[in-house]
Amino acid sequence: MIGRLNHVAIVVPDLAAASAVYRRVLGARVSGPHDLPEHGVRVVFVELPNTKIELLEPYGEASPVRAFLERNPAGGMHHLCYEVDDIVAARDRLLAEGARVLGDGQPRPGAHGTPVLFLHPKDFCGTLIELEQAGA
Ligand code: CO
Repeated sequence: MIGRLNHVAIVVPDLAAASAVYRRVLGARVSGPHDLPEHGVRVVFVELPNTKIELLEPYGEASPVRAFLERNPAGGMHHLCYEVDDIVAARDRLLAEGARVLGDGQPRPGAHGTPVLFLHPKDFCGTLIELEQAGA
């Protein structure tokens, strides 16, 4: 069911410093910052030949990544994003398997404007998983 690895998300305490590490030290192509207030994050996209890395820092007081940063002050890997062809069909299959979908279970537009869902880490080897419907 799952397809390509769309991105790996890393939460960082300082997005400008993290961008500089990826750009200068690792020699990667790094976008400018994008604010996603509806997701409570500011994000930078690192473009790799076969996938993307998303560097996230909290945006706003209610940011869902703020608590993560308190537990991991230096930053850390936050989630993996896998592509699926049909996110509603994927969700229904996962629910039938007993997996837990976070929130109200309704796909909503993610960082790339395509519908996404998050799955409970305890059901997937301790890793938060984002599913993203592959773009048209
Ligand atoms: Co993501």
